[in-house]
Amino acid sequence: MTHHSIDSATRAGRFMTTLRGERADSTPIWLMRQAGRYMPEYRALRERHTMLESIHSAELSAEITMQPIEAFDLDAAIIFSDILPPLAGMGLDLEFIKGVGPRLGNPVRSRADIDALRTPPMEEVMAGTLGAIKMVRRELNPRGIPLIGFSGAPFTLASYAIEGGGSKSYVHAKGLMYSDPPSWDVLMSKLVTVVSDYLTAQAAAGAQVLQLFDSWAGALGRLDYERFVQPYTRQVLTAALATGVPVIHFSTGTGAYLESIAAAAPTAVGVDFQTPLDEAWARIGTDRVIMGNLDPVLLHAPWEVLKRGADDVLARAAGRAGHVFNVGHGILPETPVDNVRRLVDHVHAASARAGTSV
Ligand code: CP3
Repeated sequence: MTHHSIDSATRAGRFMTTLRGERADSTPIWLMRQAGRYMPEYRALRERHTMLESIHSAELSAEITMQPIEAFDLDAAIIFSDILPPLAGMGLDLEFIKGVGPRLGNPVRSRADIDALRTPPMEEVMAGTLGAIKMVRRELNPRGIPLIGFSGAPFTLASYAIEGGGSKSYVHAKGLMYSDPPSWDVLMSKLVTVVSDYLTAQAAAGAQVLQLFDSWAGALGRLDYERFVQPYTRQVLTAALATGVPVIHFSTGTGAYLESIAAAAPTAVGVDFQTPLDEAWARIGTDRVIMGNLDPVLLHAPWEVLKRGADDVLARAAGRAGHVFNVGHGILPETPVDNVRRLVDHVHAASARAGTSV
C-alpha cells in the first residue's frame, strides 16, 4: 500500500493539472495497454474468461482496469475494453482469435453493407463498459486517481470495418475512400454518430478524461487525411469536448502531418515514438498539451538503457508544463513487469519539482 500514501489531492492534480497545461508536482505517467498480457494477473484472468466476456462484464472489466493500478504508481487508469466492440453493435461479427487478433467476419465492402449498418444507442451496446466505469470510479476516487474512457476514431474503425482485420496496404478501405467518396461520407458519418454517442456516454458514466485512438491514421498522406478524415475527427472531438472533459487524440505514423492532427483541436496530442518529443511539441505549438512518447520496445531493454530512453523524453520535454509521459504505442505482451515499475517510479522522481505541490 506504500505507493497509495501520497496525498490524494496532489495525485489527482498531477494528471488533470497537466491536461490544463499547468504545472504539476511532477510529470504524470500512464501507459497505453497498461492492463494486458505482460501482467500475470491479467493472463490468469484471461485463462478463465474470453476477451469479449472480459470486456462486456462490468465486474471483470473493472477488475482488469484496477490490476495495473494495484501494481504500479500510475497517475491514471484507463477503462479495460477495446476499440472494436461498438462495431459489433453496428452489425459486424466481432471475434478475438487467440494468437491472431480481432476479426470481423462480415466486413463492409459495398454501399448496401454501409446502409445496413446500425447506429444503436451505446448505453445498450456498451452497457458493461459504462457499468465498469461507475464501479471503477468508486475505487479510484478515494485514491485520487482519474479514469480515462476511450473510443476508436472514425478512420481506424472504418478501416477495421472494411478490411475485416489488420491490414498492411488498406487496399479495401482506401479503395472505397478514393473510388466512392459519397459512400465514404455515409460510413464516416455513421461512425461519427456512434463514437460521439459512446464518448458522451462514458463521460456521463464518470470518465474524467477521454482518449480517441486513431492508430491507423498514418496510412494516409497529409492531403487525404485532411480531406477524408480530419473533418469527421473534428466533429467527434467537438461532441466529446462539449461534455466538459479533456480529450486526448492519439495516432501513430502521422509525423508527416502532426500540425493537421493538432488542428482538429483535441485538448492534448498523443504522439508516437518516431518524432522526437521536442520536435513534435514545437510543431503542434508548445502552448498545447502533449502526451508521449517512449518507444515501448525500450521496456524490454536492460534498466540502464530504458532509463536513458526515459531521461531523453524528459529532457526533450524540458520541464515545461503540459507533458504527460506515455509510451509512443501500447506496451507489448513480453514486457518485464519490473521495468514498468521502475519506469513509473523513475519518471516521478526525475521530474519532481521542488515547491510546486498542487
Ligand atoms: O490501453 C488500455 O489498456 C485500454 C484497453 C485497450 C485495448 N485495446 C485492450 C486490448 C485499448 C485502448 C485498445 C485499443 C486498440 N485495440 C487499438 C488502438 C490502439 C493501438 O494499440 O493501436 C487497436 C488497433 C485495437 C484492436 C486490437 N485489439 C488488436 C489489433 C488486438 C490484437 C493485438 C494484440 O495486442 O493482441 C486487440 C486485442 C487487445 N486489446 C488486447 C488487449 C489487452 C489483447 C487481448 C488478449 O489477448 O488478452
